[in-house]
Amino acid sequence: MAVSSRVVAILGAGPNVGNKVAERFTAAGYKVAVVSRSGKSIPTTIAALSLSADFKNPKIVHGVFEEVRKKLGEPSVVVYNGSRISTSVLLEIASDLRFPASQLMLRALRLQPQMSYLWTSKQDHLSINTTSTFAAAQEAVRSFDAINDKDTPRTFIYTGNICNQAAFLPFLTLGVGKAASSHMIDLASKSYVDKGYRYV
Ligand SMILES: NC(=O)c1ccc[n+]([C@@H]2O[C@H](COP(=O)([O-])OP(=O)(O)OC[C@H]3O[C@@H](n4cnc5c(N)ncnc54)[C@H](OP(=O)(O)O)[C@@H]3O)[C@@H](O)[C@H]2O)c1
Repeated sequence: MAVSSRVVAILGAGPNVGNKVAERFTAAGYKVAVVSRSGKSIPTTIAALSLSADFKNPKIVHGVFEEVRKKLGEPSVVVYNGSRISTSVLLEIASDLRFPASQLMLRALRLQPQMSYLWTSKQDHLSINTTSTFAAAQEAVRSFDAINDKDTPRTFIYTGNICNQAAFLPFLTLGVGKAASSHMIDLASKSYVDKGYRYV
């Protein structure tokens, strides 16, 4: 199969990691599909297809893959790049332990960074960081199975961070999601080794 007929789906693509990953695959000759809530966070010169979807709801993942299959073909590479952090970006950064003022700020705000969250109100974080990742990993297997050309590398890439190695205040929901997904990716990588599918 010519590289130009290969397809990559980047789920959660924006101006930082997602954009650069899309650029690299476009340069390598792939047809690139990107997905974000706005559906337009990446220039059309980089992506052949830009879809709008919110991974807060894992049930929409199947429809996203169907759209990519219909418009571009079965993706041989899937990048799950979307994520959700637990509180405002400002607080996340300010409360990082590397900043001397961070603990003072947490105390001043009476913020109990770990267990003060009402987990029920953070279900969408778990969906975005993990449940939709699981749904995407399942859809990826369906696509990989449907690709007949044995020479086509088939890979699922999850954009992680350091949270599967260590816990950092106050990244509770982000850390739980990244650690759980890391575990899932590790298991998938072992499960599909015989088929040559890579989960990283
Ligand atoms: N940036 C960092 O410093 C850093 C460090 C370590 C790890 N990471 C990881 O790298 C990944 C990418 O982060 P990034 O900051 O570089 O962002 P990015 O790739 O530039 O963009 C991610 C895009 O995902 C989309 N998105 C967010 N929530 C979504 C949802 N619920 N459903 C669908 N799309 C959604 C957003 O577009 P819309 O707003 O249009 O939906 C956003 O533009 C994340 O998994 C993050 O945890 C980032």
